[in-house]
Amino acid sequence: MNKTKNRMPVIIDTDPGHDDALAIMLLEKSGVADIKTITTVAGNSTIQNVTNNARYILDLLDTPTPLYSGSSGPLKRKLVQAVVHGKSGLDGAEIKKREKLTGDAVEKIASIIRENPGKVSIVAIGPETNLAKAFIRDPKLPSLIKRLVIMGGAIDVPGNKNRVAEFNIFVDPEAADIVCRAAVKKVLIPLDVCNDIVLQRTDFEKLRKTPLSESVLKMMDKYMYGLSVNEKVKGALMYDPLAAYYLINPSAYKLQSMDIKIETDGEITRGMTVVERRTWAHKNPNVLVATKIDGRAFKKDFLKILQ
Ligand code: RIB
Ligand code: CA
Repeated sequence: MNKTKNRMPVIIDTDPGHDDALAIMLLEKSGVADIKTITTVAGNSTIQNVTNNARYILDLLDTPTPLYSGSSGPLKRKLVQAVVHGKSGLDGAEIKKREKLTGDAVEKIASIIRENPGKVSIVAIGPETNLAKAFIRDPKLPSLIKRLVIMGGAIDVPGNKNRVAEFNIFVDPEAADIVCRAAVKKVLIPLDVCNDIVLQRTDFEKLRKTPLSESVLKMMDKYMYGLSVNEKVKGALMYDPLAAYYLINPSAYKLQSMDIKIETDGEITRGMTVVERRTWAHKNPNVLVATKIDGRAFKKDFLKILQ
């Protein structure tokens, strides 16, 4: 029986990362996504580490989903890595394999889109370097994509990487700018809605005891430690799973159309998602921004799907 029949074609572009790991698990186990490929991008850690981590997650899930590695750093800047995920980018995971880097994520993203015109949803949960490169190489590509669901930005809340910027946008603001200007439906999941949805260890303990849930608990302990020390947060922030969940239950999201530009020149404001709020100004609404997510629905579905 064709297991992918009636499932939506999806690409996950990611920098695993503990929350990336949960997002990949959520979509892989959801039954709604035909994940065409996982592509990696440097962000939370080096391209080698995030690709090793992606391999670890796919092996844990025992899935044949293809994995291709991509950009080892931003378009124009030096890579700034995250701290909360630890040295490996997925502390708590027993990474045994050094995954061979294929380096062809950008080509793979483009070919999958061309083979499935108008059908592919891309879940972008790391810096947008791979996507920007794909759009630079083929400016017509955005018009062939069904939608981008992007974890990134900070609209009315402080940043988590500087005073105003969210990490994924901060790492590669030039890439985020190219993607933000691209003519494709973009759904943005910013810190504003992610900050309010946090899971505790007791939530993960509700998962049926399996090798997967045991590994998740070990990873979450390290992730929660990293967040408590570096971001003074108690619990596990669900940044990337909240982007992934949009494909599972879009009715749980309230979206508002906004005109957003990305700050690429600012020193203090590098990576800021700047909204046009002047009532009299001409607006070019280019992003659908999640302003509310039903956290109760997310948590219930998340734990049910990961069982
Ligand atoms: O700011 C949170 C985002 O940055 C998440 O995608 C997390 O994994 C890191 O990549
Ligand atoms: Ca991420």
